[in-house]
Amino acid sequence: MDRIAITGGAQLNGVIPVSGAKNSAIKLMAASLLTDEPLRLTNMPRLADTRFLGKLLTRLGVSVTESDGPDGQQTILHAPEITSGFAPYDLVRQMRASFNVLGPLVARSGQAKVSLPGGCTIGARPVDLHLQALEALGAKIDLHEGYVYAQAPRGLKGAEISFPIVSVGATEHAMLAAVLADGVTVIKNAACEPELVDLQECLNAMGAKVEGAGTPTVTITGVARLNGATHSVIPDRIEMGTYAVAAAMAGGEVRLTKARPELIESLSVKLEEAGATVVRTEDGVIVKRNGSRLNAVDLETAPFPGFATDLQAQFMALMTTANGESRIRETIFENRFMHAPELMRLGADISVHGGEARVRGVAQLEGAEVMATDLRASVSLVIAGLVARGETVVSRIYHLDRGFERLEEKLGACGAQVRRIKGDGEPEL
Ligand code: UD1
Repeated sequence: MDRIAITGGAQLNGVIPVSGAKNSAIKLMAASLLTDEPLRLTNMPRLADTRFLGKLLTRLGVSVTESDGPDGQQTILHAPEITSGFAPYDLVRQMRASFNVLGPLVARSGQAKVSLPGGCTIGARPVDLHLQALEALGAKIDLHEGYVYAQAPRGLKGAEISFPIVSVGATEHAMLAAVLADGVTVIKNAACEPELVDLQECLNAMGAKVEGAGTPTVTITGVARLNGATHSVIPDRIEMGTYAVAAAMAGGEVRLTKARPELIESLSVKLEEAGATVVRTEDGVIVKRNGSRLNAVDLETAPFPGFATDLQAQFMALMTTANGESRIRETIFENRFMHAPELMRLGADISVHGGEARVRGVAQLEGAEVMATDLRASVSLVIAGLVARGETVVSRIYHLDRGFERLEEKLGACGAQVRRIKGDGEPEL
């Protein structure tokens, strides 16, 4: 398997264009199941996760064509008919979000058999809320041997869905199913992440009637059929935030473009509190740090517009060399500190107590061999490697390839010493 080697010490200076959001792209791809007309998605990132989902969608009857279109990287998805309602374990386990094909399959063809998901190993991550939403819409759900069987032979019916806790995936899933339901669906306690707004815009371009995404109440008036559309994927706020942290860590000046500053405002505020300079621009941010050491700051993850859990590992890496002690509380997922022991291999001083990590900044990290444990954790090791003395080698970077497009190229263009070491094809133990 491939590894990434980083030689620490180089400042970052340059421009990094932000890609389309992985977390949005994969839900938008699932929306192609809802129509017999082509859906053209532009600003599409090319990632392992989009490839996984493309493979699964192809099995279900969607033709998936990736190309360079007039407005950049595009994917055209076309499902004249659903040829199979079966999503097998070997494909769904590779990426949790592929579970979101269940709702569109039931909505369009009345039945589906979808494996329970796998995905990042960050806590239990059940799908009870997804199933609760589909049941509220009238689907009959049975679980057997790791599979969900869902049936709604006479179609889904609009309903009120009130989530007991906020879930991004379950809100999206409910939206994807309710657009073709008969009648009005009201989702209460909906997630407010920007990717929900992106999904609403794409579904509405396809002829759906969705209102309120980005607020806790989403209202969907079902329609009989959807049409094809062209939609540009929202910029990836997690990729943007990751490079903003990388710039603050390494020092120098990095301009992030093709994005929107408000998508990472809670991070920008923390970066400024720590002593970095963040300039909001029309299409992104400029992050600068001169030679001085950053100060430790505390943070707590929260649903949008709070501090994103997907940026917690990166910020922890930043705090490993800050001046003082930083307290980092994770409130979205249990077990999301698996990067802490790996950062400690680089010399970080971190202790974890339940949902809180305390990071006492050290003067210097030392390069070492470390292992990626999940998608965002893996990039936190790259960030730490940017300042560690000597070489840091990160293994199991298939996690990184799931969510970061051309990472070595983007960081390398700003002066980072990052290279990919090609593996021998053997899985790592
Ligand atoms: C999405 C993002 C992920 C991000 C997370 C929180 C994608 C592909 N992934 O994940 O990167 O970290 O939002 O912003 O978009 N839960 C339940 N039952 C359910 C569903 C969720 O108990 O049926 C719990 C989860 O275990 C977690 C919390 O709800 O503790 C929030 O999870 P959720 O918002 O659903 O995250 P994902 O959609 O899986």
